[in-house]
Amino acid sequence: MRWRKQKQSFVQDKATNMDMTRIPQHIAIIMDGNGRWATERGKDRSYGHQAGVDTVRRITSECTRLGVKYLTLYTFSTENWNRPANEISALMGLVLTSLEDEIFMKNNVRFRVIGDVGRLPADVQQKLHETEEHTAANTAMTMVVALSYSARWEITNAVRQIVAEANEKPGQLKPEDITEEYIAQRLQTPFMPDPDLLIRTGGECRVSNYLLWQIAYSELYFCDTYWPDFSEDDLKKAIESYQGRQRRFGKTEAQVENEQ
Ligand code: IPE
Ligand code: IPE
Ligand code: MG
Repeated sequence: MRWRKQKQSFVQDKATNMDMTRIPQHIAIIMDGNGRWATERGKDRSYGHQAGVDTVRRITSECTRLGVKYLTLYTFSTENWNRPANEISALMGLVLTSLEDEIFMKNNVRFRVIGDVGRLPADVQQKLHETEEHTAANTAMTMVVALSYSARWEITNAVRQIVAEANEKPGQLKPEDITEEYIAQRLQTPFMPDPDLLIRTGGECRVSNYLLWQIAYSELYFCDTYWPDFSEDDLKKAIESYQGRQRRFGKTEAQVENEQ
């Protein structure tokens, strides 16, 4: 809080305490709690996933309104393949039906997918591909959906690529060529900056194999609200919490203050 007062150009949002000049550029979300939300209502877990789609729509549109540039949503993890077959097929069905061009066009949102897409059913792959193509020229925000994704899969995949490159040109790739940037270019995310803020709903304080490389310096925010209940106000609370923190990236408080 202390350092925020020193900033000259604080522009306060009327309804909240948010500084509109310091909206995180990239928000990543672990959307958790759909199943428990449904179970508490005596419903099937897939009813919770359906309700979660509505939250995705609301939060996407609020993020574009606030000026967030990248929103990365953990939608289905590599480990989620171990769930009951009926839940997996309900989730795949929801991916198919919820990717409506209209929502992306209305909000000027570009759609991208990351993950082991080849494991998904063919019709889902086709729909993902089409949505990426149709929305490629949209500029307000990029919404990234992580499907059949886990960070360990992503890193393993990158290492395999690097070994394949080394095999293609024997003796040419030197150990010192393998920089952090070189690795980052072979992850799923070279088209976007690292997340500034990572939100997890649903009460668990863990990262469940999400963007492990990219969240090295992200601010983490955990809340108890189940994803279907996560509101625009909850999002603003997360952003306010983010804005109350000083990101030091290893430096001292005084160093960072002098850079302001
Ligand atoms: C998150 O909600 C969505 C997915 C993992 C697909 P969950 O389905 O994990 O909901 P809970 O954690 O069981 O309540
Ligand atoms: C994380 O939620 C994955 C997604 C939100 C897609 P999980 O519900 O799968 O995570 P764990 O198993 O509780 O760690
Ligand atoms: Mg869960």
